[in-house]
Order: sequence, then C-alpha cells, then structure tokens
Amino acid sequence: MNLKKAVKYLLPVSVKKWLKYTLYCAQDFVAYITGKSDDRYPPKRLNFVGSSEFKKVGEEFVDYFIRLGGLKPSDTVLDIGSGIGRMAIPLKEYLKDGKYYGFDIDKRGVEWCQQNISKVSPNFHFEYVDIYNKYYNQSGKIQAHEFVFPYADNTFTFIFATSVFTHMMPNQIDQYFSEIRRVLKPGGTCFFTWFSIDKEADANIQNKTSFCDLRYKYNDYCFYSHKNSPEAEIGYTEDWICNALKQIDCHKDLKIHHGSWAQRKEQFSYQDIFISKSL
Ligand SMILES: C[S@@+](CC[C@H](N)C(=O)[O-])C[C@H]1O[C@@H](n2cnc3c(N)ncnc32)[C@H](O)[C@@H]1O
Repeated sequence: MNLKKAVKYLLPVSVKKWLKYTLYCAQDFVAYITGKSDDRYPPKRLNFVGSSEFKKVGEEFVDYFIRLGGLKPSDTVLDIGSGIGRMAIPLKEYLKDGKYYGFDIDKRGVEWCQQNISKVSPNFHFEYVDIYNKYYNQSGKIQAHEFVFPYADNTFTFIFATSVFTHMMPNQIDQYFSEIRRVLKPGGTCFFTWFSIDKEADANIQNKTSFCDLRYKYNDYCFYSHKNSPEAEIGYTEDWICNALKQIDCHKDLKIHHGSWAQRKEQFSYQDIFISKSL
C-alpha cells in the first residue's frame, strides 16, 4: 500500500476531516498575510469537496462539459450537489445566455455560492436542502430517497453530478434518477461521475492496486470503502449504472471515460465519466 492510500484508509474519516480543516486554516492564514487570498474562490477551510486542486478541477470539468458533453452557452443547467461552486465558478464565464440551478445539502457551501456567485451572475441560482447524509450532513431532516427536486417537469437541457453519486446509497440514487427523468427535457444531456466497477476495476480492487478500496459489499451492485462511513466513498457495478440510465431513458449515445481511481489501463480524469442523452 503506498503512503497516500495508507493515509486515506488507516485514519478514521473524522480525524482526516479535522486534519484537513487544520491544514487549510493554516494555508488561508498564510495566503491572507502574504496578500495572496483570491476572492473569486472560497477560502480553503470551507473546501469540503475534495483535496485536489479546486480551480484546476473546476476548469477541467467545464472543458469536458463543453468538449465532450456539448454544453452550449444558452443551456439550462442543473448541478446536483453543487458543493461550494467548484463547477459554477468557471461555468459562469461560459453560461452567459443560459441559466444555472444548483442544490446541495451543505449550508455553508450554498451560502458562499449565493453570496459570491449569484450576486454577480443573477442567472446562477443555488438552493440549500436539508437532506441527511452520514458523511456530509448528519443532522439532515429530509431523506434523499424521498426528495422531490424543486423544479418543474422538462426544465433542463443539461444535468450534471460530479462526485455526488459516489456518496449516495442505492435507494437514494433510484429517487434522484426518477427526478432526473422528470426534470430533463427530451434530448437533454446527462453528465455524471462514478466509481464504476467493471471487470478490470474489480480485479484491481481485489489485488489492491486500485486507489479506492471499495471492499465492503452493500448489495450485489453497490460497494463501499469505509466500514463505518459508507457515504465517504461508494462504487457501483458498471452494468448497474448502464441499466439504471436505460431505465430512465437516458442511455442514448452513452460514452464512458474511465478514470484513474481503479488504476485501469485507460485513465481519463479521476472518477469515471458517463455522458448520455435522454430519448
Ligand atoms: C465531493 S463533493 C462534490 C461537490 C461538487 N459536485 C463538486 O464537484 O465540486 C460531494 C457533494 O455532494 C453533496 N451531496 C451529498 N449527498 C447529496 C444529496 N443527497 N443531494 C445533493 N447533494 C448531495 C455534498 O454535500 C457535497 O457537496
């Protein structure tokens, strides 16, 4: 096991969160006293969306939305699990004639986006929803498997979820998929990231060369890495994901770009990217 993977799995999730927060507070302080703080981005201590470079990952994905997903400046976009604006910040430069709606279960993230993005780009809307998630919102009052998206039928031309279904249990994804079907226009685009387990990924999980462990079995198609905190990292079998997209008629022109997480031969980005269209 390499050092990065050892740190990832040997420390309890709560300790890792605390260590990250302390490190990020120190980095914010250094940026502040050296005059290097950048108001266009959230302070590091508020960053709960992943340790890799915030700005770089946002720009990388907006490029994929446009180049691989065919996103247009006039699209009406839904960002499921909008976090703290990692995608919205670079998107606001592109989506000049379109509309953006994002919702998330982390109040601080949504408030930062409302105050720093919506104020300068009024076509960008963010909504906080108090949904329970053991990893992200332990005091949440709403259950994801009962949540109805706060948007009318056939609203969106492009829906994305980056690193969100990797934190959701199967019955929650079932509900979100049925809502996606309701709010996505015919011919609209889905752009979702996953830890998708095919034969090659499964072999690498078993021989422990995969960066994500996904060693605990929830059911025949859902696996997770942290015994006491399943929502910290969840993977699904590729067959199940493809079939789930088919069930909601969103499997047209499906393209899969496998990421590096499983150390497969193909390594595009980190998580696996699934892009498809609704019928
Ligand atoms: C790794 S972060 C990714 C955030 C954002 N999509 C990005 O790429 O920067 C996972 C996000 O999923 C959100 N989340 C978890 N469960 C959710 C749910 N049921 N509905 C909406 N968002 C959820 C978390 O609050 C968190 O912001």
